[in-house]
Amino acid sequence: VPTTRDPGGRLRAGGVDLLGIALDPRYGTPAYVYDLGGMTSEARALEAAFEGAPHLVAYAVKANSAGPVLRALAAEGCGADVVSGAELELALLCGIHPERIVFSGVAKLDPELDLAISRGQAGIGAIQLESIEEIPRVEARATAVGRIARVSARVNPGVERDMLGTHAHIATGHDEAKFGIPKEDIGLALDELRRTTHVQLVGFTSHVGSQFTSTDAYESAARSLFDIVRSVRAEHGRALTFIDTGGGFGIDYGEGCIPRPADFVSVARAGQRAAGLDDLALYVEPGRSLVGAHGVLLATTVQAKRTRSGESRRWLMIDAGLNDLLRPALYQARHRIVGLLAHGEDLAPWRVVGPVCESADDFGEHVLPSTPPHAVAILDAGAYGYTMASRYNGRPLPAEVFVRDGRVVTARRRAPAMEWVADRNIE
Ligand SMILES: Cc1ncc(COP(=O)(O)O)c(C=O)c1O
Repeated sequence: VPTTRDPGGRLRAGGVDLLGIALDPRYGTPAYVYDLGGMTSEARALEAAFEGAPHLVAYAVKANSAGPVLRALAAEGCGADVVSGAELELALLCGIHPERIVFSGVAKLDPELDLAISRGQAGIGAIQLESIEEIPRVEARATAVGRIARVSARVNPGVERDMLGTHAHIATGHDEAKFGIPKEDIGLALDELRRTTHVQLVGFTSHVGSQFTSTDAYESAARSLFDIVRSVRAEHGRALTFIDTGGGFGIDYGEGCIPRPADFVSVARAGQRAAGLDDLALYVEPGRSLVGAHGVLLATTVQAKRTRSGESRRWLMIDAGLNDLLRPALYQARHRIVGLLAHGEDLAPWRVVGPVCESADDFGEHVLPSTPPHAVAILDAGAYGYTMASRYNGRPLPAEVFVRDGRVVTARRRAPAMEWVADRNIE
């Protein structure tokens, strides 16, 4: 359970009193609070699910790229799945070995490819090819510096979008998505790879979507990937070292019990064994499931508003908006919202909204004390929260506070509004 209430009814995360943080002028609200201990436990449980078999948990840095988070996960043996040169540099700075980094993305820039090829003794673990057109580009960059670039082919297995059962914006493994090489084109990609001299195919990858609340679509996509690898291995598999079934493991945003990350690994391992491919390392790329439940976004109530005409409604206007947490506006995601003090008996439905001038800046209806709470916590905000935050409407990026075992480990305060003013005052 990521948050708990102490005997006095105050909400805690990682053993730290959240109201104390919300009121602390050193941070200010909106403030993300992350429990590094909780993230560490997630990583440990996932590592254990491999039962010593060769594997890599390549944490998807885009979910939460804060240094303390990356360092905590690296300490548990995680590698990284990055999608930009900046994420790659950050992962290296946080102690992740180049060999343990894979680089995804449909339009990697030349300097980003150069970085991936040049870092470490032999470049990063794999550049994940998302198109046939990328192959000659990687070949040219690697040839220019006299190195062999290790690559994997990201297969788009063309799973029916309905089967993916997730929001359209986070479904990536269907045939209208821009991601990956369509499975029907894999033969052509292998032909193109055969013509290269400085590119070595070391893996096959697929990532078909996010926030899966059952293992079915993941299992089906993994099976499709294993089938492909089995069929091409004899001819193209000499240098293969891994198969990567991607991330997408869902978390419980309050809608009920769902599989644990280890369950996704179990179905992938079973499929891998059934396909006779268990001599290859199994890579997975979880983002959300390692960090999502272990972060909250604290917000202070700015004012309550009541519409009295028509259908009366109570609005709770808080100082966090879609610029701080975009998921509700982008994916119609619902996050639970609770008061930082125990809720008494006197409750009322509140429509919780942010200050941004967009109707989509709306966190939905939540039952909260009828006397407006001073501050609230938006739960399960550890993934795709801060990393998607913006300064829209001249609002500074939120504070971030990192806690572990009952104390604040490190924090970054919210920037002063004048910083934005100075930044935008381009002469
Ligand atoms: C290539 C790739 N791998 C991994 C992930 C992580 O997904 P999740 O956070 O759902 O585990 C993503 C998410 O967009 C992705 O695009």
